[in-house]
Amino acid sequence: MKGIILAGGSGTRLYPLTKAVSKQILPIYDKPMIYYPLSILMLAGIKEILLISTPRDIGGFKELFGDGRHLGLMIEYAIQEKPNGLAEAFIIGEEFIGDSSVALILGDNIFYGTNFIDFIENATSLKIGGIIFGCYVNDPSAYGVVEIGDNGEAISIEEKPKRPKSKFAIPGLYFFDNKVIEIAKKVQPSSRGEVEITSILNEYLQRGKLKVEVLGRGLAWLDTGTNESLLNASNFVEVIQKRQGMYIACIEEIAYRKGYISKQELMELAYPLMKTDYGKYLMELADSTVEEYSLAYSSMNGG
Ligand code: G1P
Repeated sequence: MKGIILAGGSGTRLYPLTKAVSKQILPIYDKPMIYYPLSILMLAGIKEILLISTPRDIGGFKELFGDGRHLGLMIEYAIQEKPNGLAEAFIIGEEFIGDSSVALILGDNIFYGTNFIDFIENATSLKIGGIIFGCYVNDPSAYGVVEIGDNGEAISIEEKPKRPKSKFAIPGLYFFDNKVIEIAKKVQPSSRGEVEITSILNEYLQRGKLKVEVLGRGLAWLDTGTNESLLNASNFVEVIQKRQGMYIACIEEIAYRKGYISKQELMELAYPLMKTDYGKYLMELADSTVEEYSLAYSSMNGG
């Protein structure tokens, strides 16, 4: 399975913060926001990744990750000329996806929780259809909303409904078979002028090929859409990291634990960051034995 991170959008809801930089490069505590979705793809075992961003912002991401080789990844880049909607990611990414299945994660979605890795690892073995998640939230009207039946099946999908039929919001992490490219090409723009991901989901639903996994209380799906939620997300990460001494979305750590990079390579990545706790954390990882950290690994990112 291949992965796409969509880090587009104009970020106008966070102006003036995002007037000159991409929202997805803003800090969430000690690292750029984009580290969080990237870490999810890495934890899912996805190594081939396409990062899509705006003509203005793509350069910043290239500077941040390069070709991804230092993390044992293959990262490619593509531009979304205008914020035409999420469904366009599969058209822009057609060549990259090839005949593979694909996961799409939005560059501003942050996940942290028990057993979440199990969910996403399962989803990567998808052969047919699509998999989405349902997250119980107090007010789902700002999101895609899925109505779920008694047997856990999806009944309806709506984009930002004024009167939601359920409390289950659909977070920005989607798994699809290769048919998603053909389906995306047929999507018509919505009233807000975007090709909506929910149109793709509705097509899978009509074909009887959409699976929804309900994420329970143990999962924190953090919003980053307002100044307040941005600050809350930073505070959340700080609290967990300080208390546990284990980092969230530490992409170098994940690369090391997955065996993509050696201890030597981890130390090389840590070295330029030694003025920060982040760098010291990486260096400590490299110094410790794998045994000592194997316990920590099983609970990394809450999984
Ligand atoms: C988008 C999707 C929506 C989804 C949300 C998750 O919303 O359209 O279905 O629930 O991401 O973050 P937008 O970012 O366009 O508000």
